[in-house]
Amino acid sequence: MAANSSPSSSIDSAFYKAADDFFREHAGLALTYDDVTLATLYSEILPRETNLETELHERLRLRIPIISADMDTVTEAPMAIAMALNGGLGLIHCNLPEREQLSQVSRVKNNIHGLIQEPIKVSADQTIGDVLTLVEERSFAFRTFPVVDEKDTLLGLLPGHTVRPRYAATKVATAMTPRAQVQTITEKELGKNPIAKADQFFNEHIGIHKLLVVDDADRLRGLFTISDIERIMQERHSQLKPARDDQFRLLCGAAVTATRNSTGELDRDRILTHIGDLVERGVDVVAVSTAHGFSKGVGDTVKLIREEFRDLPIIAGNVTSGEGVSYLSKCGANIIKVGQGPGSICTTRVVAGVGIPQLTALYVCAKAAEQEGVRILADGGITKSGDIVKALTLAHGVICGGLLAGCPEAPGQLLEINGKVYKQYRGMGSLAAMQAGSAARYGHSSKDSVRKVAAEGVEALKEVNPPLDIVLTQLAGGIQSGMGYLGAPDLVALREKARYIQVSPAGQRESAPHDIVEVKTGN
Ligand code: XMP
Repeated sequence: MAANSSPSSSIDSAFYKAADDFFREHAGLALTYDDVTLATLYSEILPRETNLETELHERLRLRIPIISADMDTVTEAPMAIAMALNGGLGLIHCNLPEREQLSQVSRVKNNIHGLIQEPIKVSADQTIGDVLTLVEERSFAFRTFPVVDEKDTLLGLLPGHTVRPRYAATKVATAMTPRAQVQTITEKELGKNPIAKADQFFNEHIGIHKLLVVDDADRLRGLFTISDIERIMQERHSQLKPARDDQFRLLCGAAVTATRNSTGELDRDRILTHIGDLVERGVDVVAVSTAHGFSKGVGDTVKLIREEFRDLPIIAGNVTSGEGVSYLSKCGANIIKVGQGPGSICTTRVVAGVGIPQLTALYVCAKAAEQEGVRILADGGITKSGDIVKALTLAHGVICGGLLAGCPEAPGQLLEINGKVYKQYRGMGSLAAMQAGSAARYGHSSKDSVRKVAAEGVEALKEVNPPLDIVLTQLAGGIQSGMGYLGAPDLVALREKARYIQVSPAGQRESAPHDIVEVKTGN
């Protein structure tokens, strides 16, 4: 039972203020995460009982409110897969040819299927050489293929060990295991729990790694693989559950930019064709990512996408003002990225003299977002789980770059310097990243010469991190601790209950380990 009308509660409320009181009293002073701390509140909630789910859009629900940044040293398919497997979301960056971004999205969406509904098939009159070409062209990591006729009727299964150059001239019909010897199950036999059924099948059929699903007319309807089923069974025991779409595929986002044609106008056809291709591959959300979202080019791009793709969730940004949030939401964005200059590799505030420290920006944007009925994401500047807890008192999710860039799932080579191992991490506004394609994100043309362009980001190194699932488990654990201290069973309650107070410089020093010789870090 919490006492809330006693003298002690009035002393608390005089010091520990709700967001509206706190931030309005501090109007005129821009605050960020370390400037503020959250007051503890009466709690009946244990950290492990808290629920981290967040709804960014009715078609985009995450199990943890963490998104990996659309940066070319953070999110490609392996990071996006690992993020979604742990309940978050990866935004595949767009500093790569459009065709390659599409194939990255496909890799995420096809990563684990309980049932692969459209398996890659071959026909009996192809040669093994044709199949090898297919494998090479589409970079398939597998070599076993169902064999069907033009009506999709199952004729056999081409085993992986026959797909070798030495058999290139052999016909598939000769090499395949004939239909009568291929194990199948009908759609009806799958029943209500197809995964359990497939798991049972693989238990009972030692050495068989593929189970084909057929309809009553023996047409191929899908395929289970033992490795997918094993991973799914494992996931059921893991702490963080995957974030999936309604077809049980992992969630995946992709960044797009306000592409312009040679006359400097938005390249409508190119933008719409690319988004159409992304949607076809199953992308769950697109992010129109730029440094200055409160601008005509970004607004027009969002409008263009919204007119053509009415139901597609759109993230847009970045902004730091209420007007910026209203503008983008009126253009059709559902989720707005907040953050200008807080990123660990950003130099926007140094170079351009603009940008707002993150907590104040989040409060201002959260108020506008509430009115517009959109969500905001806290993008950049997050260095520890405590920052995430503070961000989530105002935002529906956070975007992390530097915190994840050292994980093995991030793109890039390892570098060893003086016995320590590092990974590259660079701002998308650094010269190197802009030369690789991200110039438009910072309002420059790819044709601008290097001398003309002022970089707004640096190239850096991050010490390597453990695998992403360990990092995310730690971060999620930290968020849950924060929620436990505030007695918040879920993120809605966290936003309602948060009470803030500004911290003095001495208070900040007191907040981290001090006056000790540290022998083991908290992580
Ligand atoms: P963290 O702090 O997580 O920040 O490393 C990642 C976010 O920083 C933004 N970003 C940049 N901002 N110049 C900037 O001013 C840059 O070069 C740059 N690159 C990335 C971006 O919002 C990202 O999510």
